[in-house]
Amino acid sequence: MNKQHYDFDRVISRGDKSGSYSIKWQSFEEKFPGYNIDTQNSLGMWIADMDFLCPPEVISAIKKRAEHGIYGYLAPIALEAFKKAAAGWFERRYDYKVPTDWMLFISGVVPSINAAIQEFSKPGDGIIIQNPVYYPFSNSIKNNGRIIRNNSLIEDKGSYTMNFENLENIAKKSDTKFFILCNPHNPVGRVWTKDELYQACQICLDNGVLVFSDEIHADFIMKDYHFSTAGKLSEEISQNLIISYAPSKTFNIAGLAASLIVVPNPKLRERLAKRMEANNYPDPNVFAPIAGEAAYLYGDNYVSELMEYVEHNFDFTVNFLRENLPSITMKKPEGTYLGWMDFRGTGLNSKEIYSLILEKAKVVVDLGDWFGSEGDGFIRINLACPKYIVIEALQRLKKAFQNL
Ligand SMILES: Cc1ncc(COP(=O)(O)O)c(C=O)c1O
Repeated sequence: MNKQHYDFDRVISRGDKSGSYSIKWQSFEEKFPGYNIDTQNSLGMWIADMDFLCPPEVISAIKKRAEHGIYGYLAPIALEAFKKAAAGWFERRYDYKVPTDWMLFISGVVPSINAAIQEFSKPGDGIIIQNPVYYPFSNSIKNNGRIIRNNSLIEDKGSYTMNFENLENIAKKSDTKFFILCNPHNPVGRVWTKDELYQACQICLDNGVLVFSDEIHADFIMKDYHFSTAGKLSEEISQNLIISYAPSKTFNIAGLAASLIVVPNPKLRERLAKRMEANNYPDPNVFAPIAGEAAYLYGDNYVSELMEYVEHNFDFTVNFLRENLPSITMKKPEGTYLGWMDFRGTGLNSKEIYSLILEKAKVVVDLGDWFGSEGDGFIRINLACPKYIVIEALQRLKKAFQNL
């Protein structure tokens, strides 16, 4: 590996005594009902934030603003500078030119999904998702009284593809109004190709189904893969599209609550903006836009080195499993920092698997069945952490599973 400028090996406490109130490392028991969890001695490898410091330029920007000492209402210009920096990032990193007036600020991607569901469908309408997928999608659909139309991904020995035939059948139903696409796809780690995206988005366009493309993981792409945004597929598709981006995952600033919705179609944008206003979503906190701006202006090198580090964690994990625990498999993801680990070869049922991981190994992960029944027998493990933690987790899994 090349010489690093960032110390991703550094283990930084986020537990009880750190004062950081990290849900990943403390007070998470209630998320795992039915399991007896030893929080103090468990490794936090579940929810999707990283155990790395964010870029130093972001920390400096926050410190500088904090030292001002007055945290009153923000002027809109604060958002303009953030959006301008984001436009630079999208162009440099995704080769996607986005005028800043296509962008809407919102505190999070999930609130933007809720607002779009409310504005562009009505109660009882069908909304397509592709399980196994980030589970708040289902919650947003159910919480808004819409119906989940699940187009399960097709799995073949740990590789996943979209079921286009079924997608078309579902999209054709007259009350299917909305499709939530996840690219890269959390938790299976697919970085959808331009062809796959085109096919899926064209089916939706042909059948009057609006596409919401959640591209929050766009910056986590392994070296052999290329990220394509849904925004560049065709002019017609872009007019039937809402995209979400955020600096939150990329630069580890999720707690600052900043994301951007890109809506190329002015009519859709106006409707969504009005809906957000009606929902009374909060203005950004004073730190969100300056942190996002600094990240998008200065974070290129950080992301490159970060991905090299994370990719190494994945290579290490895949090899470790192959050599030490052959009944547990994991295909290296094409993107994201989330591993989708397959325990079906152990012959145990999901409850037994989860209890061995959570209670015996004391490694806290996302349980596969949270992502739909397609996730039975899997877990999602977050490898955006110092290698020391990865090694410790794998040793613990080895101890818990080796005598099966
Ligand atoms: C695919 C996906 N979308 C959205 C989010 C969350 O976004 P936010 O915290 O901005 O609501 C996550 C977080 O893990 C995610 O993986």
